[in-house]
Amino acid sequence: MKVTVVGAGAVGASCAEYIAIKDFAAEVVLVDIKEGFAEGKAMDLMQTASLNGFDTKIVGTTGDYSKTAGSDVAVITSGIPRKPGMTREELIGINAGIVKDVAGNILKHSPNVIIIVVSNPMDTMTYLTHKALGLPKNRIIGMGGALDSARFKYRLAEALDCPISDVDGMVIGGHSDTGMIPLTRLATRNSVPASEFISEDRMKEVLEETKVGGATLTKLLGTSAWYAPGAAVSAMVQAIGCDLRKMFPCSCLLDGEYGQNDIAIGVPALIGKNGIEQIVEISLTDAEKATFAASADAVRKTNALLDA
Ligand code: 2OP
Repeated sequence: MKVTVVGAGAVGASCAEYIAIKDFAAEVVLVDIKEGFAEGKAMDLMQTASLNGFDTKIVGTTGDYSKTAGSDVAVITSGIPRKPGMTREELIGINAGIVKDVAGNILKHSPNVIIIVVSNPMDTMTYLTHKALGLPKNRIIGMGGALDSARFKYRLAEALDCPISDVDGMVIGGHSDTGMIPLTRLATRNSVPASEFISEDRMKEVLEETKVGGATLTKLLGTSAWYAPGAAVSAMVQAIGCDLRKMFPCSCLLDGEYGQNDIAIGVPALIGKNGIEQIVEISLTDAEKATFAASADAVRKTNALLDA
């Protein structure tokens, strides 16, 4: 399996590292526009191969997309990350042009590629990529919900004071500080509803901490997070590469599902060799449906900035 990761910054390099350590791909090509940067990151990562025990070959290139030819999956992390106090949506002016160019370059050299969009504002960048490339909708996926769900599980385990492996939870909706929807009603601790272990107030705190999980880290780090975003997208690449048909909440172009059309937004989907194998429509309460609709409206507002 050949994977391209565009953007050798912290997220892209973390993604490449986790893909290599999982050792399911033959080759990972890191692409960046900064002279020598992707080559350096690739070489540094390759010098961990004997220590971390992987045979995946990681190569870097400064903008030479011919080296990405024949990629099965391409991850777009390029663009600028947000700074403390910024929303993801404020990045659209700069990142939209970058993502559109990158997507076109990827497809030119890999006509059968499946694309995973990470760049923010992610749902809108995913929508832009669909509109720019016109590929079958199963081949363009946005990564947000996998990351947000990981943060949800972290906060749940913290509140329950239990191992993270004991909890499960999913976040759907827009990948934004205000629009994401941690499904607290469905969260579990070893198959038992998590709500049986903590108060409603504490669960509300978990929900709010999850929603601003990215902003919390940006404030601490001075820039966007990278380990968990890299790990989340590498798990999706593995699901494609190994045809796992694994369920992830991810940004999918909807065509009536969840009552929405012509929008990319986080919903549960089975991810396998064809990318989005199936969008999974779970039953939601009326309150959850209303929150999802509001989240979709917010994503549409950001999408409208593309034409502005
Ligand atoms: C995050 O939430 C970068 O959007 C990503 O950390």
